[in-house]
Amino acid sequence: MKDTGIIVDLKGATPFYTEKQFAGAATDALAAFDTLVSGKGRGSEYLGWLNLPSKMDRSLLSQINSVAESWREKADVVIVIGIGGSYLGAKAAIEALSHSFGIKKVEKKYPDLVFAGQNLSGEYMADLMDLISEKESAAVVISKSGTTTEPAIAFRIIKDFYETRYGKAEATNRIVAVTDSKAGALKSLSLTEGYRTFIIPDDVGGRYSVLTPVGLLPFAIAGFDIEALIDGAVGMEQICNTRTVENPAIRYASVRNLLYNNGVKIEILVNFHPKLTYFSEWWKQLFGESEGKEGRGLFPASVNFTSDLHSMGQYIQDGERILFETVLSVRESSRDIAVNKDDRDLDGLNFIAGRTVEECNKMAELGTRIAHIDGGVPNVLISVEKLNEYNLGSLFYFFEFACGISAYMLGINPFDQPGVEDYKRNMFALLGKPGYDELAQKLKERF
Ligand code: PA5
Repeated sequence: MKDTGIIVDLKGATPFYTEKQFAGAATDALAAFDTLVSGKGRGSEYLGWLNLPSKMDRSLLSQINSVAESWREKADVVIVIGIGGSYLGAKAAIEALSHSFGIKKVEKKYPDLVFAGQNLSGEYMADLMDLISEKESAAVVISKSGTTTEPAIAFRIIKDFYETRYGKAEATNRIVAVTDSKAGALKSLSLTEGYRTFIIPDDVGGRYSVLTPVGLLPFAIAGFDIEALIDGAVGMEQICNTRTVENPAIRYASVRNLLYNNGVKIEILVNFHPKLTYFSEWWKQLFGESEGKEGRGLFPASVNFTSDLHSMGQYIQDGERILFETVLSVRESSRDIAVNKDDRDLDGLNFIAGRTVEECNKMAELGTRIAHIDGGVPNVLISVEKLNEYNLGSLFYFFEFACGISAYMLGINPFDQPGVEDYKRNMFALLGKPGYDELAQKLKERF
């Protein structure tokens, strides 16, 4: 198999289908590929992400880096306000490359990033105010629609705090907005207040926006190399846009649809690397919101191994056979530590003395994959050489492209999310938003 930076290894899935079935799925995937790249499928007004890396005006990256640079002295903490696609990509990328305990071994001072507007917890918000009362901070508010309730509430509170603490003019210097070019309350508010603004292209939807300023600005502020991130995405854009069954995105989309059609209902994204926890959250949003509609779609779940082998491992090994695993594996760890020899060997571990923790992890990975395959769980292995900016950019693009193909194979529109409106309507009614009185009455009668 050709090494494209991302390797999709299907050996662990082949016992669960026939060659003929795979050939059929690959043919369907190629048809879906044609639909995607021709721009003739459903939701094609949101295909701006498709060539976004290669077409990117690199001066945008300089502008982003210059905001990041200017905040380095000003802020100890930067609050990134956003939810869903305006949150998860940045969180995933930053977690993947940051020190596990926040220790920074660089000369330059980078602010700590914290997130807000991704929940409606009063306690979380009050705790955040404690933090920014003690530190110098700045805020990036991100919302494509500019009207999403959770980030809007968080931003209103933080804006008021800055204006009170620093005065109007300095508050303006401490706020950057990332939003739509024309529509939405955040756009008009930014114009009125004079905030520095970055644009989310009209033709890029929320969960496909990680490679726009939505993900790039927080990533740059945290001190990471956004040029390398985009370079990785450009490399993967070329690979994914090649019409061949060897294309890793086509292979992945083929196998997940084939397994779905064979009765599997759940895909679990597995990592053996705690820094990938939020990458899985980003992946879940991408596939869940793109595919879960019209009564169809694999349910995307995730586990962090080996931690969750001690909780979810039992079900995966032995529970209902409705799932398959996709292991997102990192071939080389950037750091490692050897297990020492102990003369008394009271814990009986001398058989691994001299080997590294990561070697143990790799054996856990292999052993788990084989055990789960033997337990009836198809296993797809997606591996990447190591975690760095370049490979993260590749991974983001790879999964976006694979999701587009996979959703077209299902016959649904990958780029809308009609189902997320229902809870909002109810919440607005219950909060007494004007125009929702009748619904509020009906809801109150039910509960
Ligand atoms: O993928 C999507 O479109 C959604 O998950 C949005 O990203 C999320 O609802 C946040 O929307 P907005 O950026 O408009 O505040």
